[in-house]
Parts: sequence; structure tokens; C-alpha cells
Amino acid sequence: MHAEIVVLPGDGIGPEVAAAAVAVLEAVATRFGHTFGFQEHDIGGIAIDRHGEPLPATTLDACRKADAILLGAVGGPKWSDPNAKVRPEQGLLAIRKALGLYANLRPVRTHAAALGASPIKAELLEGVDFVVVRELTGGIYFGEKTRTADTASDLCSYSVGEIERVMRTAFRLAQTRRGKVTSVDKANVLETSRLWRDVAARIGREEFPEIALEHQLVDSMAMHLLAKPREYDVIVTENMFGDILTDEASMLAGSLGLLPSASLGEPGAVGIYEPIHGSAPDIAGKGIANPYATIFSAAMLLRHSLGLDEEAATVEAAVYAVLDDGVFTADLAAKGYAVSTAAATDAVLAKLQ
Ligand code: IPM
Ligand code: MN
Repeated sequence: MHAEIVVLPGDGIGPEVAAAAVAVLEAVATRFGHTFGFQEHDIGGIAIDRHGEPLPATTLDACRKADAILLGAVGGPKWSDPNAKVRPEQGLLAIRKALGLYANLRPVRTHAAALGASPIKAELLEGVDFVVVRELTGGIYFGEKTRTADTASDLCSYSVGEIERVMRTAFRLAQTRRGKVTSVDKANVLETSRLWRDVAARIGREEFPEIALEHQLVDSMAMHLLAKPREYDVIVTENMFGDILTDEASMLAGSLGLLPSASLGEPGAVGIYEPIHGSAPDIAGKGIANPYATIFSAAMLLRHSLGLDEEAATVEAAVYAVLDDGVFTADLAAKGYAVSTAAATDAVLAKLQ
């Protein structure tokens, strides 16, 4: 097949990890007889520098026409003045919103070879396999913001429709997995959470009676995630809770550098695939960033946007194989045994040949 992929490298380590994933996609194209076109565009801090805005119209136009979007990361100290009018992160939020990507899938799987990198006891980690479905275009991230000299506010609001559609994504996903959905909220305090819980219960009862649904409060969920991570199959939650819980969950896998994501909308919407980690300015340009999360994201791109399931599984197997071989970047390795981004990428490419 032929596919046009827009690459948004962004800031910090973004360009380094995006390049690794592009190399992997090129290897997949060669091996399976596909052709992929790659078009690079600016987003985030680099777009502010070059175009004066974090999401230039040229970038958004190209994304709308693409078959899929691969993104690195955005942000950095250069653009982090608390009083700055534009911030790189606004570009990321704007593109998610503009493309209608309301469901952010963040799979968390542990792998035997990487258990040692996790601060959690190995016996709790074996066989962990869940997906967090994070609502991505609503909630406190997108509500009205106000600021005066001595007050500030961020409005958190959700509509029934916004909750229904992301719930359906989560329940449908559970149908293809172990048939369990955990809906996470703060319904003992927040009105948006009480609506969230009502809608979750109704969608479960009326449309997916065969799926087991449980509700969890986000604070106790933060604890259960570390205490009994094997229990979970699909976890669905609102935007900010999902942001926080998935950074926490990355410690189960061993590193933030291992978790990919897919941001999806209605069927036919172009998807964005990006690692869940940020731009890591402290290690940018050093060639030591972990490329695996972005390579796993490329596998999700193959699966969800291009329908290439075998190719996706082949990429995932290649990363697991290099983990088995102990090819670890600094975030995973014992002191003195770390390889570079390029070496880790080459190891994956070698498995793909
Ligand atoms: C993420 C990131 C973003 C978010 C930031 C960079 C705006 O943390 O994708 O998880 O909070 O959504
Ligand atoms: Mn985050």
C-alpha cells in the first residue's frame, strides 16, 4: 500500500526519537512492499520560533490531508516563561482538538527483560497488560482560563456526548480484550465526575452488558495501579486524570521511554501517534534518548491508521527482541551499560531485516 505520513518532530528529544521511528517505518515498507511518503512540519516551540505560533496553518493543513501523523514531543525551557503568551503545549492541544482526537489509547505492558528497570517488585509486574483510554479534547485542559493579580481559575466541564463517545471507545476495546472496564473519576467531590460515572454506568448497562464495569476514585486508583496492576484491562478516564495516571503507569513498564500512544477520533479521522513522554530538554541533542516509545507508537500507527496488523506486530516483536538482548538506553540500563538512541534503533532495524 501507499501512505502519506506527516512527521511532527517538535522540540527537545522529539526530532531524535521521531527519526528513529521513521527509520523503522521505512524498514517496514521495504520488508512488506509498501511505500510511505514522509512530510515534516513544525509544531510546538520550533514552530513558535519559525512561524510565531505553535500550530501553523501549514502544519494543520498537511495533517488534515495525511493518512497518519507521527509526533515527537513539544516544549522546553526556552518557551516556558510562566507569563509567555504562547506556549509549545498549546500547539499539541490545538491539533488534538482540531482533528477531533478525543480518545487517547495508552497501552501499558510489562516485558520480562525490563522488569529490573521498574522500582516496583517484579512479582507484581509479570503479565501486566492494560490500556488507559484517556479523554483528550475536554475537561480542565480546554475550559475557560482566567487570571487576575490574585486569582486564577481553570474551568472543568464535560458534556454527555463527550463522555459517551470515549466510553464507547473503551467498551469496544474491552470487547477485543479481557472484557473489563475500570472507569476512573472523583465522583465524591466533582460534579463532572458524577456525570462521568452516570454516563459510564448507562452506556455499560444499555450497550455493553457483557462487559464488567467498575468505578474507581482517582486517588485510590493511583494506589491500586501500583499494588495490583495485573487486575486491569481497560481503564477509561478524563483528560487530566489520564495524563497523571499514565506517567505513573510508565513506572510499571520500567520507563517513560517505553510507553506509546494513539490519539483517535471518529472512524476516518486521521490519528496522531506519539510517545507519552515529553521533550526531555535535559538530555536533548545528546543522542541518548530512548526511541522505543516512539517506535511502539509507529507500530500503533501501522495498526490503527493503516490497518497493517502483521506489520505492527512485527515491529513490536522486534522491540521486545532487542529488550531481551539487553539493548537498553540510559533510562533502562544499569550504570555503564547504556547504548545510544542510534544503537538502539539499529538493533531494532536489524531484527526487521
Ligand atoms: C502528554 C503531555 C501533554 C499533555 C502536554 C505536553 C501538553 O504531557 O501528552 O501526556 O498534558 O497532554
Ligand atoms: Mn503527559
